[in-house]
Amino acid sequence: MKAIILSGGKGTRLRPLTYTGAKQLVPVANKPILWYGIESIVEAGITEIGIIISPETGEEVKAKTGNGDRFGAKITYILQDQPAGLAHAVKIAQPFLGDSPFVMYLGDNLVQSELGLFLEHFHSHQLDALTMLCPVENPSAFGVAEVDEKGRLLRLVEKPKVPPSNLALVGIYIFSNAIHGAIAAIQPSARGELEITDAIQTLIEQQKAVEAKQIRGWWLDTGKKDDLLEANRVILDTCCMEPKNQGEMDADSKIIGRVQLGAGTKVVNSTIRGPVVIGDNCHIENCFIGPYTSIADQVKMVDVDLEHSVLLQGATVEGIHHRIVDSLIGQRAQLKEAPKRPKALRFMVGDDCQIELA
Ligand code: DAU
Repeated sequence: MKAIILSGGKGTRLRPLTYTGAKQLVPVANKPILWYGIESIVEAGITEIGIIISPETGEEVKAKTGNGDRFGAKITYILQDQPAGLAHAVKIAQPFLGDSPFVMYLGDNLVQSELGLFLEHFHSHQLDALTMLCPVENPSAFGVAEVDEKGRLLRLVEKPKVPPSNLALVGIYIFSNAIHGAIAAIQPSARGELEITDAIQTLIEQQKAVEAKQIRGWWLDTGKKDDLLEANRVILDTCCMEPKNQGEMDADSKIIGRVQLGAGTKVVNSTIRGPVVIGDNCHIENCFIGPYTSIADQVKMVDVDLEHSVLLQGATVEGIHHRIVDSLIGQRAQLKEAPKRPKALRFMVGDDCQIELA
């Protein structure tokens, strides 16, 4: 059994963060989204993993993720020269996959791991395709399944205007080598992509063994700021995050609840109320950091109250005399008190940023 993870494509929804980086590398609880998928695949016993990358962000994905040693896996990178669709990604991965059955995992999906159970079902029922479903409120944004009263899969349709059910396709699929023939038989969709949904529909029409199962755990969208903050909250709440202090804290500082402090991080005269995760080499001084906050490496925070927020690497937040909540602050972004008169707000804000002032 092998696996491919799709980490190409264009991350338009998480702009501005994805102007400068891959959406699959945006961190949730200080870990890139992509790594959750890798860990879940390895946990299910698969160690040969191909990662599909794009020319724009591939080098960054490679540099960050490496050859797989840190996960106990062997990672092969497969370049897709353009985002021509999920089925196109399988097509170009065929030399890596050979005739092996495989898991296909969308690198921007965060799913509570049940992969081992689904693999058992796939093998014991000798399936050609097993898809995962989850009820959602906005099915038109996804691939949608039509199932009969016994839960059998009748039809799949990609982003339908009039959805046949509320059951969305989760971004994890298991296939036998029959999928390659089905992909060879489909044409690009109206949006110009080779859709995996169409290939699975072809398998259904060829009377192949195709099933769908509903997942029981969470499936988190990370497409927009509030989705990402919610994913951060759920992961900090549910993943067994043990308190760990590798940093330094002075006598005037207080840590309450589950908090992780990375190596080289200094906390001075501050209170941190978990769940909170703080990376390496940060400086936190005269701050209150409240629950559901993730702070990446090399962040500087002085005189700030903040909660339910995600700060990316190298951000600086200093002397803001308002409580900061529900915020996503990008790499190397600087939020500072204006140093001189006239007392005024001064901005240098990149494309597609959002600022809400009280
Ligand atoms: O998230 C689940 C949904 O994912 C399913 O319900 C849909 O049926 C499925 O088509 C897919 O829809 P999206 O529109 O969300 O797919 P997106 O274009 O965002 O791509 C998903 C991942 O695959 C993402 O990590 C980028 C990567 N990708 C995408 C394309 C189109 C590639 O690596 N290559 C590609 O050509």
